[in-house]
Amino acid sequence: MKRILSGMRPTGKLHLGHLVGALDNWKSLQDEYECLFMVADWHALMSEYENPENLKENIVDNVIDWLACGINPKKSHIFIQSHIKEHLELYIILSIITPLGMLERCPTYKEQLREMTNRDLSTYGFLGYPVLQAADILLYKAESIPVGEDQLPHLELTREIARKFNKLYKKEIFPDPRALLTKANRLLGLDGRKMSKSYNNYIALSEEPDVIRKKVQSMFTDPARIKVSDPGHPEKCNVHSYYAVFAPERKKEIDEQCRKAHVGCTNCKKELAEILVKFLKPIQEKRHELLKAKSRVFEILEEGEKKAAGVARGTISEVKKIINLA
Ligand code: TRP
Ligand code: SF4
Repeated sequence: MKRILSGMRPTGKLHLGHLVGALDNWKSLQDEYECLFMVADWHALMSEYENPENLKENIVDNVIDWLACGINPKKSHIFIQSHIKEHLELYIILSIITPLGMLERCPTYKEQLREMTNRDLSTYGFLGYPVLQAADILLYKAESIPVGEDQLPHLELTREIARKFNKLYKKEIFPDPRALLTKANRLLGLDGRKMSKSYNNYIALSEEPDVIRKKVQSMFTDPARIKVSDPGHPEKCNVHSYYAVFAPERKKEIDEQCRKAHVGCTNCKKELAEILVKFLKPIQEKRHELLKAKSRVFEILEEGEKKAAGVARGTISEVKKIINLA
């Protein structure tokens, strides 16, 4: 089986955006690939180093959400990045050969520096973010990397670094990893911007039903609909795109009713809230079970770690031989 690796940064509670944008995709790959799913805690620390209080808690909480959403530990290996020391060894080896300009030009780097103004990201570590990600991927010689579009620059960098290493030492040690783009519909946040913890515009997977109802009522809708009697433009409405994801069978009807002003936004959102409450219920039940059986979660992580460590040690010993450190 071909191997895939993906990772998620434990920066807070997981939300619907993570589910639709990543977890659903991961879940669907489990039968076809050997899957490694990693909690990227070093990467989280690179942006959250000023406030790491919740890091440990977030790690376990996120893994519980992964499991609750259907990541199956019998099929996939789940592990924590910082528990496998080889990530750091490969990271430094790759950083030695990575041209500075390549990192400074990286569009995600420039964008984050510009946008995350509430954090000081002008650090040596943050510049090296994509090098660590390259190490994550190359350490396991992963063939395909399921990611969203925002990660494409990091994958391109990974390929460049891999080729440079291969060429420099005349060994085809690292395969060219390719992106396995998530097809899923992108789910925007309550305010129509990207769903994100920093915008506080998300619905967490663990959200209480009443909070879901309140949050859904606060969603932005078609701005042209001021009175209930105004005909709506569902294609301009974020609520409508939630129907597309969570109740595709209801979408067409809502679309018509909205255009004819047969349904008001309050009721449309009320219905959506109940759809989401119902959708999240089994996930939340599974979450509660796992929260009561945390030792099982730690066992799963230990098993994943064993698998990851085996592969990682193999690669590092090859790499060290090549550069004459072993
Ligand atoms: N940078 C990724 C993100 O923010 C997380 C990540 C870290 C990752 N290492 C990875 C994703 C390796 C894929 C492969 O989403
Ligand atoms: Fe959006 Fe529903 Fe209001 Fe139409 S009725 S504008 S789809 S919230």
